[in-house]
Amino acid sequence: MKLPFFGNHPGRVFKSNGIFLQVFIEDHGGGSDASWPARYKNLRIFHIMPAQQENNMNRRNFLGSSSAVLLTSAIASHSQELQSAIKGRQDKSATNPGPENQLVRDANPNTFTPPPTDHGEVQAFWSSFSTAHRRIQEGGWTRQVTIEDFPISKEIAGVNMRLTAGGVRELHWHNAAEWAIMLRGAARITALDNDGRGFVKDLGENDLWFFPTGIPHSIQGLPPDGCEFLLVFDDGHFSEANTTQISDWTRHTPPDVLAKNWGVAEESLASIYAGPAEGRFIFQAEPPPALSEDIAALNSAAGASKTDFSFLMSRMPATAKTRYGEVRVVDSANFAVSTTMAAAHVIVRPGGLRELHWHQNADEWQYYIQGKGRMTVFFNGGKARTADFNGGDVGYVPRTLGHYVENTGDTDLIFLEMFKSPRFSDLSLSEWVTNTPPELIRQHLGIPRTVLERIAPHKPLITPV
Ligand SMILES: [Fe+2]
Ligand SMILES: [Fe+2]
Repeated sequence: MKLPFFGNHPGRVFKSNGIFLQVFIEDHGGGSDASWPARYKNLRIFHIMPAQQENNMNRRNFLGSSSAVLLTSAIASHSQELQSAIKGRQDKSATNPGPENQLVRDANPNTFTPPPTDHGEVQAFWSSFSTAHRRIQEGGWTRQVTIEDFPISKEIAGVNMRLTAGGVRELHWHNAAEWAIMLRGAARITALDNDGRGFVKDLGENDLWFFPTGIPHSIQGLPPDGCEFLLVFDDGHFSEANTTQISDWTRHTPPDVLAKNWGVAEESLASIYAGPAEGRFIFQAEPPPALSEDIAALNSAAGASKTDFSFLMSRMPATAKTRYGEVRVVDSANFAVSTTMAAAHVIVRPGGLRELHWHQNADEWQYYIQGKGRMTVFFNGGKARTADFNGGDVGYVPRTLGHYVENTGDTDLIFLEMFKSPRFSDLSLSEWVTNTPPELIRQHLGIPRTVLERIAPHKPLITPV
């Protein structure tokens, strides 16, 4: 029996009984006319996708639906447990007469019909800003994802904020360091460094800032339409509701003490005590003057700060680039002030994969900026779970757990990998199997050397290379 549709190309995808299979052909060098029995011996299932992803898979070498016999044969090589999981997806076992929240279900196809390789109960590692409460005030809004409603996120919390043109996130500091990326628009940021010198700068899309714990700062949206940004804190317990704000602190200091502190008349401070009891937080103000004017004011005081709290990632070349994506790593090696946070900004083209890897040094907190993807996290002891992600979602991978992120959409998938660590660090499955004696790998996984030799002997970050 000939299988002409395989040709010389491994990795082809086909459909059978509503299931998509991607088959890796180990011996593909002998042409397309090999006999069926010989070909069958060399088949390995590499990847199984649920039927909902038909449109997506059609784009990727979809070959037809005449391979039921091949599916059955391929399943036979799996454990009984995996066979059952695969067959359950083909017969009535997986039907769901309802009730169902259709919108949530449709956004999570890999939860509704998990890959058969998923197994066991694991803590949820998916959350979303889109289900977080928005605190809306004149001048903008904020929402947060913290350990309170995302229990796995012990090391990092996130805040998503929008400020209008002139809208101010008031002068404040907090008991956690703040890493930030501008998502849309532009803002003016200010800070005071450890030497008591002021810092002011205007930042645009894809630029970053970092304020260490206890460093006071502010953010103000610039014309024409203000900004939206993401804040990442190196403590899962951080809350925007618990920061030290200048209007809050001064309002709760006796007027005579405040007057004595500054050497001014008590009556001149009356406006402070007319403010809200919990501080102003976000408020609408006039857009700031020209940047040069603000800088000149600093220079006439104690002088401008010598610390750069900002990083222009918008001008940074890619740290790594392949046909299917690019990665920018920003940590204390190139952004000196960011001593407790490391970041990787990842772009995965349609069909690409952020390769199987793990991080030795910290938990990973992810923010999905745009696109559609899925991630499987392997929790050891036979446990693995796959979740879907869209723009605005948050993912979390506890330290050292293996994972990948695959672009399952038709546009670029862009996301952030954030770590509570001075340096970005990871190791990949490809590095592991290609830098270990091949005979030892063969004895573990049954993979012959001819196959191992095809695996890139380095860490591409994004595959295919
Ligand atoms: Fe802050
Ligand atoms: Fe990762």
